[in-house]
Amino acid sequence: MNIVFLGPPGAGKGTHAQRLMKELNIPQISTGDMFRRAIREQTPTGMDAKRYMDKGELVPDEVVVAMVKERLAEPDCANGYILDGFPRTVAQAEALDTIAKIDVALNIDTPDEIIISRLSGRRVCAACGGTFHVSMLKGENCPACGGELFLRDDDKPATVKNRLDIYQEKTAPLIDYYEKKGILSTAKCTDGGVEENYALVKAALNAMA
Ligand code: AP5
Repeated sequence: MNIVFLGPPGAGKGTHAQRLMKELNIPQISTGDMFRRAIREQTPTGMDAKRYMDKGELVPDEVVVAMVKERLAEPDCANGYILDGFPRTVAQAEALDTIAKIDVALNIDTPDEIIISRLSGRRVCAACGGTFHVSMLKGENCPACGGELFLRDDDKPATVKNRLDIYQEKTAPLIDYYEKKGILSTAKCTDGGVEENYALVKAALNAMA
């Protein structure tokens, strides 16, 4: 099954995609993670993307589309995948339609006030890439592998506000785009915990299966 996860920053796309990929045994393809890796490795794509990401802006469509196209051609994508954070503009969705057939676009609908609290409390593991909320942590290190945890540069309040504005302007139109194709399913997320919201995501996915 080829799945697109839609939703504002902090909706829980990465958190739920990491669980679902283990359950379905298909890869999670996060364009944000791919760019962060490229930045760490100081590749030309990474250095270019950093200029946009630090301000909470979108990386140009042609850069993202080329990167995803290459990734989807890898053998582990043959039996399906979860696209997390792509597409993010109508132009990206149109480009995706020329290279893949999407079965479900799962919209993780989450109110702004929940998002702000989640992103300011998010910590990411430098070693395994796991994502956690400070409310789930007992110590200072990653509960999964013991690695060092850090706050993403783009999770600072002013940048989060810009990311939310850009989401409304550029990405929210994709809800209509996929609804018209008849493949949209929406999970209305709550301020409950990860388990509660994952159950809502699974129900929305099963409704389309
Ligand atoms: P990206 O990394 O994709 O960021 P994003 O879409 O803004 O999404 P986030 O990773 O912030 O949030 P999420 O929905 O995955 O939430 P998470 O699960 O972490 O992209 C970063 C940047 O890269 C972009 O701004 C852009 O510049 C660039 N980029 C990437 N893709 C691009 C594209 N296609 N085109 C152009 N540019 C692109 O959860 C958030 C927090 O909440 C965590 O702490 C988590 O533990 C916690 N949490 C989640 N669910 C719950 C819950 N139910 N209860 C309690 N806590 C929860």
